[in-house]
Amino acid sequence: MNSLLSDAGSLLRIEGLSVSFETDVGRVKAAENVCFELYRDETLALVGETGCGKSVVASSIMQLLPHNACVQGSAVYAGRDLLGLGEKEMAGIRGSEIAIVFQNPSLSLNPIMRVGEQIAEMLRLRRGFSHIPSLQLAEDMLCRLGLRGWDNMKMYPFQFSGGMNQRVMIATTMILSPKIIIADEPSKGLDEALAGEVMAEMVKIKHQMGSSLLLITHDLMLAREISDRMAVMYCGEIMEIGKSQDVFHRPLHPYTIALLSCLPERGFKAIPGSSPSMINPPVGCKFYPRCPNRQEKCKRKPNMRQVGTGREVRCWLY
Ligand SMILES: Nc1ncnc2c1ncn2[C@@H]1O[C@H](COP(=O)(O)OP(=O)(O)O)[C@@H](O)[C@H]1O
Ligand SMILES: [Mg+2]
Repeated sequence: MNSLLSDAGSLLRIEGLSVSFETDVGRVKAAENVCFELYRDETLALVGETGCGKSVVASSIMQLLPHNACVQGSAVYAGRDLLGLGEKEMAGIRGSEIAIVFQNPSLSLNPIMRVGEQIAEMLRLRRGFSHIPSLQLAEDMLCRLGLRGWDNMKMYPFQFSGGMNQRVMIATTMILSPKIIIADEPSKGLDEALAGEVMAEMVKIKHQMGSSLLLITHDLMLAREISDRMAVMYCGEIMEIGKSQDVFHRPLHPYTIALLSCLPERGFKAIPGSSPSMINPPVGCKFYPRCPNRQEKCKRKPNMRQVGTGREVRCWLY
């Protein structure tokens, strides 16, 4: 423990994060006043439908947004606001202290380097390991993620399936024992049974390392299985946050209720209407036009309200 975590084990605090993109057709408000904390050791899932702003939140924390992005707010880690750091300082944090697993392994892996070398190289470049020990640790990590043996270490990414490369990427990320792992749709490309297994192993490894995981996913079942807490995002805003079990068993926000009703086990009910434009989102509650419980006052924006321990919801009903 260090003194920077005096705040009930909070490792990363996102406050008032707003991201917009200037485009030919207008300003896209991809994230608006996003606030959450990531606690030490926990897995926090950021869930929501495709396009709601999850990846934008992840990329802004890592300062990986394109130049047309306008970012406001703060992301405080170890006493420093990551959003205000220079590229050099950020490069020192990226990978070593906060690492991100992207959804597309083919963009992140080096196509002409054996996978074992790619994982081991991280330890050599960033942690000063020598050749043999770095390879041994790389093999151990791959093995834990279900790719056992030196034969796998010697493969090139093109010899592996998408799912295998996804595991190589996870290994490359975890090998440096970062304090925070951000996994953006990490199970994409893995079939369902394998996704569960690989993700469970990832959580086990991160637990042993004492790291925290920010899991970004549209897969609610995966979020329920492996996360401690869950933040539900809609059209750039967090609508509800709480313990995953509580959110699943007693969703509060009408959007969360509607989203969970889309699950096959809950009747596959589609949410009426469509997601609003991020260029001209509804004023007030963004779910207002589709909400079965809407009232006149929903035309004004509700604030996030605390409802019970560790539970917050952005809705006038509470
Ligand atoms: N570089 C960009 N320029 C303009 N709009 C963008 C850019 N990147 C993302 N967006 C928009 O921001 C919104 C959120 O995107 P994203 O975070 O990728 O969603 P998610 O990860 O939840 O699927 C989307 O409407 C997307 O089109
Ligand atoms: Mg995304």
